[in-house]
Amino acid sequence: MKKKLANLLRRYPRASRSRDVLRKFLSTIFTASKVKDCVGVAGNRSISDEGSYITAVKEAIGNCRAFYKFKCEPRYIQILEHVSQDQGAMYLEIIRTESPIFMDKFNEFKENDIIGGTKTFCYPGIGDISPSTLRYIKVASDLRIFFGERLGDRIAEIGVGYGGQLLIMDKVCSCTQYDLFDLPPVLELASKYLESHTLNTAYHLFTLNQHRGDVEYDLVISNYAFSELPSRLQLMYIKKIISKAKRGYLTMNSGKGNSAFQEDKLSLADLKQVLPAFEVLPENPLTHAGNYVIVWGCGHQKHPRSV
Ligand SMILES: C[S@@+](CC[C@H](N)C(=O)[O-])C[C@H]1O[C@@H](n2cnc3c(N)ncnc32)[C@H](O)[C@@H]1O
Repeated sequence: MKKKLANLLRRYPRASRSRDVLRKFLSTIFTASKVKDCVGVAGNRSISDEGSYITAVKEAIGNCRAFYKFKCEPRYIQILEHVSQDQGAMYLEIIRTESPIFMDKFNEFKENDIIGGTKTFCYPGIGDISPSTLRYIKVASDLRIFFGERLGDRIAEIGVGYGGQLLIMDKVCSCTQYDLFDLPPVLELASKYLESHTLNTAYHLFTLNQHRGDVEYDLVISNYAFSELPSRLQLMYIKKIISKAKRGYLTMNSGKGNSAFQEDKLSLADLKQVLPAFEVLPENPLTHAGNYVIVWGCGHQKHPRSV
């Protein structure tokens, strides 16, 4: 593209006015193409808010062709939809063992693979399903085992992607209201995605700034999202939402010495000071060294993987 435009420029005589106008036009295009499409300013953005993911999200919102294949767009896969076939098999095994009552719900769960062009694989006894959908089902299974059938009236999820976790939970949990927290374009995509389906649960969309921090949630969830925020944003989420939640389930990829994300993240020791008293459980299956799950408010329920 750059080469083609330079050739075009060469066609104009040197020192001509049209050449100057074209040169200015091209330099504007090149500068614009280097500007990243981020929501937060530097220091106030998560790992995913680095430009290309947000551009892919905006394309999926604005263009129906892009919407029907956003889950196989490489800029999107860098952030979501990258669960491997083998990991999917491990999630399925856990679901089979720990939540056998989910096994006759798979036709409903597969609804999550209709939109977005996700990659599916054929799993024994289940048929075609995406490994990412299996991960959302496995999280729903964990929540059921930890917190029981009734998760409470108000649930908050921080960092929701396209809303897949809610779509899955809607089929197996009863909850009155589910509040989704993310960046503005991502919330727009989640709304477009969820509105393509019919839910039992009512949902509301929030950025952190739009929420007054005056709700005591029954449960807060965040998978690979709260842990990817810079410490300043983590602390604000803790202050407004997480510290007030009766129960919590956070899949973490920062906070330990060997976690994937290190720069400007609260450590596990920091989190012990500012979160409600919690248990640390292994991520199962372990998808990256230094990942773990933080859980609190399980009451009498004891998870089989509790240590
Ligand atoms: C790795 S993805 C995980 C998505 C989802 N929880 C899942 O497991 O598929 C990280 C999510 O955090 C979101 N995110 C980035 N900055 C955020 C912010 N300031 N507040 C809330 N969510 C944010 C991203 O848009 C994305 O949805």
